Amino acid sequence: MAEIIRLEKLTKIFQDKRNTTVAIKDIDLVIEQGDIYGIIGLSGAGKSTLIRCINLLEKPTSGAVFFEGTNLVELKDSQLRQTRQKIGMIFQNFNLMEQRTVLRNVLFPLEIAHIAKDTAKERAVELLNLVGLSDKLDSYPSQLSGGQKQRVAIARALANNPSVLLCDEATSALDPSTTLSILQLLKEINQKLGITIVIITHEMKVVETICNKVAIIDESVIKETGLVAEVFANPQTPIAKNLIYPKLGVINKEFGSVLLKLTFDKTVLEPVVADMILKTQVAVNIIEASIKQGDNGSTGEMIIQLPNDQNSIAKVQNYLTTKNISFQQSNTEVQQ
Ligand SMILES: Nc1ncnc2c1ncn2[C@@H]1O[C@H](COP(=O)(O)OP(=O)(O)OP(=O)(O)O)[C@@H](O)[C@H]1O
Ligand SMILES: [Mg+2]
Repeated sequence: MAEIIRLEKLTKIFQDKRNTTVAIKDIDLVIEQGDIYGIIGLSGAGKSTLIRCINLLEKPTSGAVFFEGTNLVELKDSQLRQTRQKIGMIFQNFNLMEQRTVLRNVLFPLEIAHIAKDTAKERAVELLNLVGLSDKLDSYPSQLSGGQKQRVAIARALANNPSVLLCDEATSALDPSTTLSILQLLKEINQKLGITIVIITHEMKVVETICNKVAIIDESVIKETGLVAEVFANPQTPIAKNLIYPKLGVINKEFGSVLLKLTFDKTVLEPVVADMILKTQVAVNIIEASIKQGDNGSTGEMIIQLPNDQNSIAKVQNYLTTKNISFQQSNTEVQQ
């Protein structure tokens, strides 16, 4: 895949009379065309600063931001404004214009770009249709739910046909089911329109749900990067382990060193774990479970510990595969 964004030794230092804050330091990162790249870290890690440096909303103190081969740091203001149209952005608080209708919010960037009125309207209507709001063109932001507001913001961010969409905690103000629907929309945009997406979040769930790659940022530096499946299966740094397995209590390592993280993404109608133990005759230890019981079954995650015996491990894995339950393997070393 072709590279679309390359950050080299990107550093941002905030300086006022009293304090010097190094918000991001020597960040190197490559994002390829078509990626849904998650950048995850705790509060204050430097996530927002990093994403705002990508489109130069924040001017880096040093380092380079290459976008489609051009170093944005070296561009003149007018060139930068032009290039920025190719980088859309959405925020946690939507940043809609309250005095404007939904349609006129989406028209705004097209007005700035001096697009002819008819063409602009056609484009805005088409985008609002894409995000599922064709019946809300004349509503005002105050009349919309959070999820609907974010859909308007997404339509507006896509108005000038960007090749990249930056999302800063785009779902953090939304409830879990609305979050899921927005993430699904972002995935659709990535697949249908071929737009590269960069997602800043403090929630592993978001990364797990739609990202193909992830970077973990902690205390202003990138600690770990890679394919989501690989980083999740084998986190290397303490911060990555902590983000992926946040709530592990004390584990009795004598029992066994293999952990499986099960994800019940579809509703599960049978008591799978009980059934698994009966069928496989393998005693497993439930370390952690966050399962929601709905009317039609359960959804959520569970971490189980398996005995150190290849035969038992294989039996359990086979069982889960047959039942179509996704799982990731790790080991007790994830515990700090
Ligand atoms: N405009 C600013 N002036 C001074 N310091 C700033 C400014 N913006 C951010 N910082 C500091 O830079 C550091 C990183 O902040 P940043 O907003 O990038 O973190 P974050 O990872 O986005 O956190 P959160 O998850 O809480 O949004 C923090 O110590 C913050 O106080
Ligand atoms: Mg932030």
